[in-house]
Amino acid sequence: MAKATTTMIVCLSLLRVAMAATYSVTDYGAEADGQTDSTKAFLAAWSSACGAARPATIYVPAGRFLVGQATTFQGPCNNSAVTILVHGILVAPAGYTSAVNWLLFKYVDGVSILGGTIDGRGQAFWACKDAGRSCPQGATSLSVAESKNVVIRGLTSLNSEMFHISIFGSSSVKVQGAKIIAPGDSPNTDGIHIQMSTEVTILSTRIKTGDDCISMGQGASGVWIEKVNCGPGHGISIGSLGGTASEAGVQNITVTSVFFSGTQNGLRIKTWGRGYSGFVRGVTFAHAVMQDVSYPIVVDQNYCPGNVNCPGQVQLIPYFFFLYVIKRIAAPQSSGVKISGVSYSDIRGSSATPVAVKFDCSASNPCSDLSLSDIKLTFENKEAQAYCKNAEGSTSGTINPPSCI
Ligand SMILES: *[C@@H]1O[C@H](CO)[C@@H](O)[C@H](O)[C@H]1NC(C)=O
Ligand SMILES: *[C@@H]1O[C@H](CO)[C@@H](O)[C@H](O)[C@H]1NC(C)=O
Repeated sequence: MAKATTTMIVCLSLLRVAMAATYSVTDYGAEADGQTDSTKAFLAAWSSACGAARPATIYVPAGRFLVGQATTFQGPCNNSAVTILVHGILVAPAGYTSAVNWLLFKYVDGVSILGGTIDGRGQAFWACKDAGRSCPQGATSLSVAESKNVVIRGLTSLNSEMFHISIFGSSSVKVQGAKIIAPGDSPNTDGIHIQMSTEVTILSTRIKTGDDCISMGQGASGVWIEKVNCGPGHGISIGSLGGTASEAGVQNITVTSVFFSGTQNGLRIKTWGRGYSGFVRGVTFAHAVMQDVSYPIVVDQNYCPGNVNCPGQVQLIPYFFFLYVIKRIAAPQSSGVKISGVSYSDIRGSSATPVAVKFDCSASNPCSDLSLSDIKLTFENKEAQAYCKNAEGSTSGTINPPSCI
């Protein structure tokens, strides 16, 4: 009986493999030497797998495969289960172009990317930015746009020019067991950026990068982030919002069981000090551990990176010899983005600055319904401080630093 069952399972497994057609990129001419341009081979394998009437697998064996910028894997496909099984490393060309994407999945429904490493080779592009030259926009390494039912599991992303992973205009996207790595001083290398997307899950992922580990822009909703380890980096951020007119709101966001080490921020919400309307509501931050984080809990509604050209600032314009004209850049504005229903529970660890909790909210749209419970944040093993402006809410349990809402 046991033998019969085993035989049956073996048969079923063989049947599954037989049912899913497999297309190896090397059969289409890809070379694992890291030098031969394998873009065409990857696109040809995609075309076969996407055009197949039944589930299909694209196989990328071990080795280094050079794949060009702006490589687009476009749907819709004839089947709803394309698996890309990667044992090797995809490398971007050295240098940079004006492409804004390296690997782009567009209009797909039912794609799983399993394993593999992608190396964006962003160094030359960062050097251009660091030198203050005029550089192109930079490429996001892996983008999922206007797509549904996408799984990215066990991927390693190295040294993206701009964002490592971007999820835009999509629903039901899951990133699990990813490793995202770039130097702490690499500019704008956000780990995962989510925008105009819903039902996005990020699980068990390690992110060391030069900007936000995860950033959520306008129209992010139904996002679940769990077991993420962040640092170096700028933390997990909602925003920046309110920088342009008629932005979609951000809602129903959960961030739980996260660890931050040496990051600039922990859990952050940031909006520009401009009048454009928008909202953030229904956010749960729970079970976070901070280790030497500059701003563990922060709402910043006067966001202005580098403090240049911010509304309300004055500029000195040389006039005659040592005389200057004082000019206000624009009238000071308060943010039109309304933040409400944000809860923080079980947040502990150490702050690298005295103010561990900062709610700097909009005068015209005060933060409302903030809730804090079980907060234990210290600064140099002593009591830290909390700062509140235009913030209203409630507290329960132990609150350290003592609450100011
Ligand atoms: C899907 O199948 C149809 C019919 O077999 C075929 O004509 C079409 O080219 C296929 N689509 C793709 C993307 O290959
Ligand atoms: C909120 O987001 C979760 C996923 O994090 C989703 O399962 C749930 O349906 C969403 N709730 C609403 C009311 O949209």
